[in-house]
Amino acid sequence: MINVLLMKAGVIGSGTMGSGIAQLMAMAGEEVLIYDNNPQACKRAQAKLEKIMQRLVEKERLSAEEAQAALSRIVFVDNLMAFADCKLVIEAVVEDLKVKCDLFERLEDICSSDCLLATNTSSLSVTSIAAACDRPQRVLGMHFFNPAPLMKLVEVVPALQTDRLWLGRVKEWLTKWGKTPVEAKDTPGFIVNRIARPFYGEALRILEEGLADEATIDWAMTELGGFRMGPFTLMDYIGNDVNYTVTETVFKAFYYDPRYKPAFTQKRLAEAGWLGRKTGRGYYDYEPDASKPQPRKDPDLGEKIFRRIVLMLINEAYDALFWKIASAEDIELAMTRGVNYPKGLLLWGKEWGYDYCVEAMDELYERYREDRYRCSPLLRELAQQG
Ligand SMILES: NC(=O)c1ccc[n+]([C@@H]2O[C@H](COP(=O)([O-])OP(=O)(O)OC[C@H]3O[C@@H](n4cnc5c(N)ncnc54)[C@H](O)[C@@H]3O)[C@@H](O)[C@H]2O)c1
Repeated sequence: MINVLLMKAGVIGSGTMGSGIAQLMAMAGEEVLIYDNNPQACKRAQAKLEKIMQRLVEKERLSAEEAQAALSRIVFVDNLMAFADCKLVIEAVVEDLKVKCDLFERLEDICSSDCLLATNTSSLSVTSIAAACDRPQRVLGMHFFNPAPLMKLVEVVPALQTDRLWLGRVKEWLTKWGKTPVEAKDTPGFIVNRIARPFYGEALRILEEGLADEATIDWAMTELGGFRMGPFTLMDYIGNDVNYTVTETVFKAFYYDPRYKPAFTQKRLAEAGWLGRKTGRGYYDYEPDASKPQPRKDPDLGEKIFRRIVLMLINEAYDALFWKIASAEDIELAMTRGVNYPKGLLLWGKEWGYDYCVEAMDELYERYREDRYRCSPLLRELAQQG
């Protein structure tokens, strides 16, 4: 019998993700313990959580009693031994395989055998983290998005060794917390960080080729494409260091598949410390007196930009389906709920027509003669089926 009743959960790491995950679980009524090996980080997280709850009360999203109750369910602990009777432990420490493996090895001796051990890794192999354990069957990936309390999507990633019985339980927990779970194969970037690469990568190619500037590309994607943010605004928001690292990690993990090749432009920005909003400068200047660059609102150019980027996204989505990274339904959910795309990419491809997508991909391939523009076999098959 699966137990989806309230439980005691543990979170390791009290940074951006750990504190967000703890907050969402506490707000859903769970008792949460947080451990961080840096006491200063714990203090910062505690203060941040208090401030967030206060703001939620001010905005009348929560009553003062509810906020207090949620806060009282989050307990900061200074020793991992406190996790002995947790039913779920989610690790959200630095993205470093050795650090994560050491932690999982320790957790195995502390947590009872019916406790699920989850990692929030974005780019490491869940299988390699599970391999650090003697009982890897109860290890899996639970990939939350930032900010965790707000973003609905969670990618559930079984390791090669995971007992599938856990998947049902995890999906029930996540649904109870108001999340949308999707299941992804343990491959680089899982669903979202793999399929979304061209949103940035192709925009950067268009910029580097001199076809359009940042403001024009952002305008095309928001005004014509219906995306909430243009690629350059979004990269500045995420941080050019973070976005570059994800791209580079996915590129390396795919054995240097040219489809995921990072752009020098982004690397240089990261090197210069032009990280985006957080440093006041990225692709755009965020200083108070800076003037905002204006897009060239040429409809033909805009259409060309939007079509090329969305085509590459469609190709990536069909390729992920071809390689069984996730079900069609989960791919659509991931991109619409996880990164708020205006439409599911598989549907977009169907609407544009498979013939058109194949022809447009082949045109790009012919022009550049780069493997980056190879058409997914699935798109080609669908076009042939008519
Ligand atoms: N930030 C994001 O947008 C995002 C999104 C999804 C997933 N992730 C993943 O979540 C994880 C955490 O990312 P973050 O952005 O919250 O990082 P962060 O740097 O904000 O926080 C990491 C925390 O882990 C603590 N820590 C480091 N080593 C530890 C150890 N051995 N034991 C206990 N605590 C330790 C640090 O003191 C720090 O407080 C990473 O694996 C990251 O890839 C991040």
